[in-house]
Amino acid sequence: MDRLVASREGKECSVSFSSGYAAALGTISALVSKSDVVLLDKLCHASLVGGAKLSGAILRVFPHNHLGKLQSHLEWAQHGYPGKRILIVTESVFSMDGDRALLREIVELKKRFGALLMLDEAHAVGVIGANGRGLAAAENLNEDVDVQMGTLSKALGASGGYICGSRNLVEWLINRARSFIYSTAPAPGVAAAALAAVNFLSSADGEECRLLLWKRINSLRELLPMNAMNTKSSNASSAIFPWIVGDEQAALDLASALQNEGFLVPAIRYPTVAKGSARLRITVTALHAEDQIRSLCEAIKRLAPGMS
Ligand SMILES: Cc1ncc(COP(=O)(O)O)c(C=O)c1O
Repeated sequence: MDRLVASREGKECSVSFSSGYAAALGTISALVSKSDVVLLDKLCHASLVGGAKLSGAILRVFPHNHLGKLQSHLEWAQHGYPGKRILIVTESVFSMDGDRALLREIVELKKRFGALLMLDEAHAVGVIGANGRGLAAAENLNEDVDVQMGTLSKALGASGGYICGSRNLVEWLINRARSFIYSTAPAPGVAAAALAAVNFLSSADGEECRLLLWKRINSLRELLPMNAMNTKSSNASSAIFPWIVGDEQAALDLASALQNEGFLVPAIRYPTVAKGSARLRITVTALHAEDQIRSLCEAIKRLAPGMS
């Protein structure tokens, strides 16, 4: 499977971990250590934050997708820690906001400053780009992403995580990533399910399914009340729609009212998102029918009459 994943992503090599969380933790802590620098987008997933903390490297967080701040962190790291490794970590699609990284601009910065780039494609694989290869492939930037991470647990419906990159990177991880070395490999049944899913994604049927998903995403975007969406970002384009409510109890009440009507829309609260930004996280799949999407949007308008 590792060979298949690597060739899909246009990379030399790939290695699988027991989960995406284990992949992030083991990889970052194997790549950087004390007096190296990790620059992390503020909205990065807990697994990436955990890996950065575990590594003991100097950690700086830049506001979400804020290129100016990322650049000033890079300048600071280059002057303050000459000769040390600088690792930029971001996600293709942000898990609780559904928007995308400004990948092309980040790649330009990483090249200018000689940094490494790690991209977590957890919510892009299976969704973005031909055959669901992810954001780097869709933007033709695969070669510029040094450490490409994915999980087998989201669109692929199995479990496990992987890292793609150069042969040197993968050999380093096999020998240094503690969550790879000291944890049992995925069970054969799980590996077989993941392999079937990766093959499906690369097939004509998989591509048809992905195009159907985009039809559903576009319908939901059209039918959702405008202020139910996270309109802060102009590059929101994924299967994740955050409905930012603010108050935690209000988000829980709305989630439970929607559940009573047959819709599973989880309420996301602190510490997964910042205080005061509790939200409902609506996720659409290719298996949702058009009329289910329409009924969900009607239910939202009924339950939150302020929505328009
Ligand atoms: C962005 C992101 N990265 C990594 C992970 C961890 O993946 P896994 O569930 O395979 O451990 C998740 C899962 O929630 C995620 O949303």
